[in-house]
Amino acid sequence: MPLDIVVGTQWGDEGKGRITDLLASEVDIVARFSGGDNAGHTVTIGDEIFKLHLIPSGIVHSRPECLIGNGAVVNPQILWAEIENLQERGVEAGPQRLKLSRHAHLITPAHVALDIAREENRGGEAIGTTLRGIGPAYTDKTSREGLRATLLDQPEELAEAVKDHVRQKNEVLRALYGQEGLDPEAVAEGYVNYARRLGRYLVESSIYLHTALQKNRRILAEGAQGTLLDLDHGTYPFVTSSYPTAGGALVGLGVGPGVVRHVIGVAKAFTTRVGSGPFPTELHDEQAGRLRGTGDNPWDEYGTTTGRARRVGWLDAVILRHAVRVNGLTELALTKLDVLSGWDEIDVCVAYELDGERIDFFPSDQQMLERVRPVYRRLPGWIQDITGARRLADLPLQARHYIDFVAEASGTPVTIVSVGPAREQVIWDR
Ligand code: GDP
Ligand code: IMO
Ligand code: MG
Repeated sequence: MPLDIVVGTQWGDEGKGRITDLLASEVDIVARFSGGDNAGHTVTIGDEIFKLHLIPSGIVHSRPECLIGNGAVVNPQILWAEIENLQERGVEAGPQRLKLSRHAHLITPAHVALDIAREENRGGEAIGTTLRGIGPAYTDKTSREGLRATLLDQPEELAEAVKDHVRQKNEVLRALYGQEGLDPEAVAEGYVNYARRLGRYLVESSIYLHTALQKNRRILAEGAQGTLLDLDHGTYPFVTSSYPTAGGALVGLGVGPGVVRHVIGVAKAFTTRVGSGPFPTELHDEQAGRLRGTGDNPWDEYGTTTGRARRVGWLDAVILRHAVRVNGLTELALTKLDVLSGWDEIDVCVAYELDGERIDFFPSDQQMLERVRPVYRRLPGWIQDITGARRLADLPLQARHYIDFVAEASGTPVTIVSVGPAREQVIWDR
């Protein structure tokens, strides 16, 4: 009864959607376990590009069922828009295929307003959140004041709960941020309308998954964000408000560790980050522009959710080792190797220098992290276009050397190498 987990090893946008799409052809259920519509996962099939925020990337395959698990936070407006958009494009996203956990928490317009107000208030210290209400929704969950998705099939209770919730948040918005606040009646009415459409999607998700596992159905847990955005294992406070790591998959789906088979860490062949916070291998100027791209290609480094230019830098093996450890990774999927074509030399960070001493671990202390300097190993680059490679033997020697180096420096086998955004642009060595 196998469950495989896909997680991001860096700061998100590693290509988890693309790798999930690849693995989804072999599974029966794809399940999201954390985050909300702060995520933006891209799946490319031929000329068609799907950008998914809440619904698991497995939806664009005809086969697997999809679950939004209890660990996720769900804005019903965004979920409904995403369902409609998929249906218009001919993708089946009705309640027989797509399930929403009763225990997932709801995001409201009041959460979004608070996210925006808090970020504005932080000024120069802003986290650079996606402004989707993620932090405030998880804050309500942990302070035991949240609204659970189960209310979506109880419209009267939902309306009362939403009105109370908006009134309470209005007090905060007025007192702390000098805002007018939202109209509780209008917000509640909107939510009752979404409830009419979304109530049919609710399931007892842990039972749903457990039953599937007992029948030997295969499950793929699709992570959002990345290890360094994890509340505990990331670059706190510049993180998201959930647990995108492998442990989060167990809690966020209601399954035990005994069912886990592979834990696949998705690593971009270089490093990117959106939002504020430390980034030891960050590049600037011309080199950064070259890695980021101009925005002419759909895969250039501009945010799927916010459109913001991503910060870019060389691959950091210290980060990969951290991700291997905290997630128990069994393998790596290396993405965007094609973007490195054309560099004479490519740097990979193998350790840090901290106050004159070499360290080989990722420090959890932010002040230490601000002071570290990357220690690079310089590897030879390659000029060939590799987007047509389908076997390791099709790659130039230097590219194969790069993959071997990543495996060695991270202590983990690289079993998937992605050489382009499209489904078939992959070398699979599992
Ligand atoms: P996610 O959030 O981890 O699912 O990643 P995003 O979808 O936000 O960002 C990854 C971007 O890189 C998307 O535009 C993908 O289509 C693209 N992509 C994924 N793998 C590859 C690859 O191997 N090569 C190229 N050129 N683009 C890729
Ligand atoms: P996917 O799943 C990249 C970042 C934000 C910000 C921080 C907190 O597409 O990889 P939040 O809105 O979650 O409170 O923002 O986390 N962030 C992401 N960065 N990819 C994501 O998701 C992200 N989700 C959140 O940019 O720095
Ligand atoms: Mg993304």
